[in-house]
Amino acid sequence: MAMNIDFDEAEIQRLLNKYGDNGFLDYCRIFRIDKLFVKAQGMRLWDSLGRVYRDFLGGYGCLNLGHEHPALIRALRELEGVPNMAQFGINPFQARLSRELALISPAGLVRSLFTNSGAETVEAAIKSARAFTGRKPVVYAAGAYHGKTLATLAITDNVFYRAPFGPPDFSVKVPFNDIKALERTLKKRTFAAFIVEPVQGEGGIIIADSNYLKDASDLCAKYGTVFILDEIQTGLGRTGNMFCAERYSVSPDILLISKSLGGGIVPAGSAVMTERIWRKVYAGIRNCGQGLSTFGGNSRSCACALAAINTIRSEELAANAQIMGRRLLEGLREISMGLSWVRDIRGAGLMIGIEVKMPFGRRIGGLLASSICASLLDRYGIILGVCLNNKMVIRVEPPLIITSEDVEYFLDSFRGFCAQYKDLSSLSGLLKDSVVNYFKIRRNDAIKQGREVFL
Ligand SMILES: Cc1ncc(COP(=O)(O)O)c(C=O)c1O
Repeated sequence: MAMNIDFDEAEIQRLLNKYGDNGFLDYCRIFRIDKLFVKAQGMRLWDSLGRVYRDFLGGYGCLNLGHEHPALIRALRELEGVPNMAQFGINPFQARLSRELALISPAGLVRSLFTNSGAETVEAAIKSARAFTGRKPVVYAAGAYHGKTLATLAITDNVFYRAPFGPPDFSVKVPFNDIKALERTLKKRTFAAFIVEPVQGEGGIIIADSNYLKDASDLCAKYGTVFILDEIQTGLGRTGNMFCAERYSVSPDILLISKSLGGGIVPAGSAVMTERIWRKVYAGIRNCGQGLSTFGGNSRSCACALAAINTIRSEELAANAQIMGRRLLEGLREISMGLSWVRDIRGAGLMIGIEVKMPFGRRIGGLLASSICASLLDRYGIILGVCLNNKMVIRVEPPLIITSEDVEYFLDSFRGFCAQYKDLSSLSGLLKDSVVNYFKIRRNDAIKQGREVFL
């Protein structure tokens, strides 16, 4: 029976306001993303008024295959009537996915521990490294984002996310791309793991230097530390290879995969590790339950992951990410040449960042970047977002199925926008709109709730 989908927008907003995440609803309203999307296919989304949008945010990295890819829908349909094995019995889909992940991962990574989200995958890797080395502390890089669970907050470099929750104190931060600082830390031989992203997505699309990861991997081996490569956002074709590790000719001890592994349709993740780590931590009847969770590696998520990997390969999406990414990067650089509000445009494959320049501090800079996204959405129907740890960077991370026509549309739109907004003073109107919007929303809410209105 089809689900009864209720598209009464006012009622939906009322329910969210009263019972749901009312803060996020306000955020959506301020930056005009309070749309009700009723249909999606590939790069496109349709709202309840029939307006079409193109998705250049890509679900923060979970939509490498775009929306509702037919191969994923087919995989789910084929499972009708097949039991969804969750932590019980023999799971054929998990067996096949384990082999597939070993085949596509860098050499030596052969065993999969299945999870349901990125942060859970990171936690699985930290646990594995601690049990393997008998050490506790973990080294992470400045600017890193590894999740928002309690343990991952300790290695996510964002004071705002951490402060209210008091994450456990087991981590040491080193500057990203600074191999000497890493060696000074690791040589104490007290660290279980060094965890790093090859391209820091939420940190503002910051790319690892060409030798950094290989040198870091060598240092980890030298000082008995587990080298964990977090490819939760960069993996599965995003930067032009199946994994970024290939670009850097590096093979970590544990590779982290999630987000697009479930094809953007189901939650899925895997920490893919070496036989040595697996044997010590999880092998044998006594240890076999150590890494299991109720839904980690269930039949449906594994079947979707198999379909997602097959599709990335058969449609050559990594190669497409490389070609389309280069065109976008070159086009954006050319358009923004001489614009006083653009500090830098950088990227790898289809992970591109536009950093805004703002003399009045990071907060206003973040507000400006979000206001630019809101304006591109309003005018051109382009969906974008900012990086979570560095909100002055607009991220361009479209699905990897993107075509030349989508790229041209984006560049033409950005060109049109830049022709109107050449400098900071012309952009101040956009900033003002966001601030006025914010106060209007607060005022209307106060009136609706019968509170006193001060603004
Ligand atoms: C590199 C990286 N690691 C981990 C995570 C956490 O993933 P999740 O939000 O699924 O917990 C993210 C999420 O953005 C990420 O980009």
